[in-house]
Amino acid sequence: MRITMIGTGYVGLVSGACFSDFGHEVVCVDKDATKIEALHRGVMPIYEPGLAELVGANVRAGRLSFTTDLAAGVKDADAVFIAVGTPSRRGDGHADLTYVFAAVREVAEALTRPAVIVTKSTVPVGTGDEVERILAEVAPDVGATVASNPEFLREGAAIADFKRPDRVVIGAEDERAREVLREIYRPLSLNQSAPLVFTGRRTAELIKYAANAFLAVKITFINEIADLCEAVGGDVQEVARGIGLDNRIGRKFLNAGPGYGGSCFPKDTLALLQTAGDNEVPLRIVEATVQVNDARKRAMGRKVIKAMGGEARGKTVGVLGLTFKPDTDDMRDAPSLALIQALQDAGATVKAYDPEGFEQARPMLTDVEFAASPYAAAEGADALVIVTEWDAFRALDLSRIAKSMNDPVLVDLRNVYPPEEAARAGLKLTGIGRA
Ligand code: UDX
Repeated sequence: MRITMIGTGYVGLVSGACFSDFGHEVVCVDKDATKIEALHRGVMPIYEPGLAELVGANVRAGRLSFTTDLAAGVKDADAVFIAVGTPSRRGDGHADLTYVFAAVREVAEALTRPAVIVTKSTVPVGTGDEVERILAEVAPDVGATVASNPEFLREGAAIADFKRPDRVVIGAEDERAREVLREIYRPLSLNQSAPLVFTGRRTAELIKYAANAFLAVKITFINEIADLCEAVGGDVQEVARGIGLDNRIGRKFLNAGPGYGGSCFPKDTLALLQTAGDNEVPLRIVEATVQVNDARKRAMGRKVIKAMGGEARGKTVGVLGLTFKPDTDDMRDAPSLALIQALQDAGATVKAYDPEGFEQARPMLTDVEFAASPYAAAEGADALVIVTEWDAFRALDLSRIAKSMNDPVLVDLRNVYPPEEAARAGLKLTGIGRA
């Protein structure tokens, strides 16, 4: 199949690289000439384990190419995937579809054959209908059709998620679109049994939002249970295991922490609430989740201050991990941002270390000292906070850290260290969801 991918962000680049690795001929198009030029040199615009190697191998094999020339990229395509950004619209939380519609218009102008236009970006219910309307207006005679194929990959595990998905959701209204997408994903069913789930287009659009909202609810649920554990003397990790072994609940996404962040859950829950509001169908559980998660990020600052004895003024806090999760350089809606703000507002000085996030974090964080190592972040500090569970923080020399600190207070917001280990090293530990 000849596939054109519009947009080389996280989803576009990973999907394009993986489709080419399946053996398809893929052209990735982006307006950003510096990005395309960097990709030509093998430089990735994002940090994602294994991506540079996968891109390199498929470019060398002649199956993957990059261009800024949309018309040339679209001309011979069997399928054109739209994978441009859908950020939250300032003010109302609606998904901003400006980029999607602009891309579709350009694609429509360039179409010469009846390709399937597939939205891979997360787009609100009904967007496919609008895409269809644009096609009918701009390219009424080429016979292109529209499908929805939402992407469920996680940053940091994107390639594995793409190649070994739990399912592939395809929303289409016509047989040809279904056939083209079945063919595109055929290599998956050869290796394993990832079900292709065929639905109507609107249903597929909704599945993506429902999945993200459900996961956000699950995380927020265990976070609240963590608070209760702290109050009554329970252990949230044991509670999570105890409930998660029930297959109906499942063990995944029950790690209590500082609240979810990232480019999807915060944005998609807000956009879903907008759709719900527009249709006068209240989604009260999702509403509560958004509020509880926002409040939680701020509450983490108070937790650290409490661990330092209730006073932050004049104190120094070391922060380990800035990105919203490990194995990414993404800082969007990272809990570290709210935490650091709360500490600074209370008069503390912050020193931070992150294995990959500095470049994105620097413009977002003022008056933060960036340390060269976890040990440098801890040195002389009155508290050390683990915000993101990078592997590099899992086997730290805790005794060395305790000795180098002004006050050996460890606030472990990801429960990386067992209490006994921290105590042996001489650290005063505060975790999540244990008394
Ligand atoms: C998410 C979805 O998982 C993915 O399917 C969708 O396509 C995009 O959004 P991503 O944002 O990359 O992926 O990260 P994910 O691993 O889901 O984590 C999101 C946030 O939830 C992170 O801040 C993470 O720390 C937090 N989280 C996750 C928890 O606090 N506890 C958990 O048990 C799991």
